Amino acid sequence: MQKLLLSMAVLTVGFSGSSAFAMGEKTYRQVCMACHASGVANAPKSGDKVRWAPLIAEGQVILTAHGYVGVRGMPAKGGKPDLSIEDFSAATNYMVNQSGGDWKRPEKSMMDGIKKELIARELAQKNPKK
Ligand code: HEC
Repeated sequence: MQKLLLSMAVLTVGFSGSSAFAMGEKTYRQVCMACHASGVANAPKSGDKVRWAPLIAEGQVILTAHGYVGVRGMPAKGGKPDLSIEDFSAATNYMVNQSGGDWKRPEKSMMDGIKKELIARELAQKNPKK
């Protein structure tokens, strides 16, 4: 019985992990691919390890938050105003993991950090230093 429970637990973890990954791929295909597949407006192409390496080095909290707020040619929320930070994060992970990274779905504490950083970033954009 214990063995059965254990294998069920392993299966559940396996499934939730892959479905989070699938969600990221779905959002990527629906929203991000339009620019990130071909490199529209100099977007870093998904799979371009050289372009992504310095971005990945910024870390998951910073890159996810700054991407969500938008930077130069990168529209806020990928141009989809109702895209949640969770879905944006999953899509970012999907691209990062296609491009040489190995990011995991954020734990709650990391997601809190991402939300804090994106609020700080939004404020900084509204009140640029003179
Ligand atoms: C309209 C085109 C467009 C769409 C759609 C788009 N991006 Fe981008 N993205 C860009 C461009 C252009 C850049 C490069 C910005 C720069 O550094 O000048 C970029 C950069 C980024 C970066 C790096 C940000 C940084 O801090 O340098 C991330 C992460 C990112 N995009 C994630 C996404 C995700 C996830 C989606 C889909 C939910 C998405 N993008 C949809 C155009 C797009």
